[in-house]
Amino acid sequence: MAVVHQSCVGYGAEPFASLVAEHPGDDVYPQADFRTEWGPVFHRGRLDGTARVLVLGQDPATHEAISRRILVGEAGQRVQGLLAKVGIHTAYVMLNVYLYSVFGQAAGSRHAKDESIAAYRNRWLDALLVDSGVTAVVALGDLAAKAYAGWARTQPGTAASLHLAAIRHPTYAEGFARASGKPLAETTASQLENWNEHLAELAAHVSPEGATDLTPYAATWGPTDLVPIPEVDLPPGAPAWWRDVDAWAARTGDDRQTKRATISVVVPKGARTWPAL
Ligand code: URA
Repeated sequence: MAVVHQSCVGYGAEPFASLVAEHPGDDVYPQADFRTEWGPVFHRGRLDGTARVLVLGQDPATHEAISRRILVGEAGQRVQGLLAKVGIHTAYVMLNVYLYSVFGQAAGSRHAKDESIAAYRNRWLDALLVDSGVTAVVALGDLAAKAYAGWARTQPGTAASLHLAAIRHPTYAEGFARASGKPLAETTASQLENWNEHLAELAAHVSPEGATDLTPYAATWGPTDLVPIPEVDLPPGAPAWWRDVDAWAARTGDDRQTKRATISVVVPKGARTWPAL
């Protein structure tokens, strides 16, 4: 029998159709600080009311610019693994603090308090959290925790009914090692310890849809800690290797101008299944 593929149905239903139609551009997201030339990337996961967990990430990166869904690259696969531990395999929805990729380290912090950015983001959070089946929110990193707190002040009733797991961003270890000069092994161990601290409470506030495995993380990423992205999360026709753990997109170029303008997409070695050339 022919393989039946699944794909993300997109933004046809309200309120998402209007949210997408009314997305802010570079009047709200200045081009000096955001890569608006790569377009907004809105979400990943369920928009049909079946989500039980909302993940709030930071901003889309290279894999997300191509796949048009957020948290698809390594950061997303680390989150996918965390959700799998608490028995959530597809019953989630993910948003980012920013619709566009931030340009430069400081840009994200600089716009943490922008009212127009928050107003649009809060419309999405209202749509996904108020009168919803979501019982827990996982905020990835400080900017996500702040953005969530800002929304919670506008919806105190709903926020009071939600569990918040404010954990370190999935690529905190790499960023902090670069910034501090500390060994990556040390920052990774510290990140995974932080995730372990939140695991039991998160599990206690989520009704699992499938198998759970609350085995704590070790001091380094294990072979099953990163989980591929489900087919149903990506737009129709997305190649299978877009969902896999091998990286396939990177900014390339010899100068800042070229690098900002270029994302190189390369089929990973493991996915080159064509006959020998
Ligand atoms: N990709 C995203 O979409 N969000 C993040 O926070 C990190 C990577």
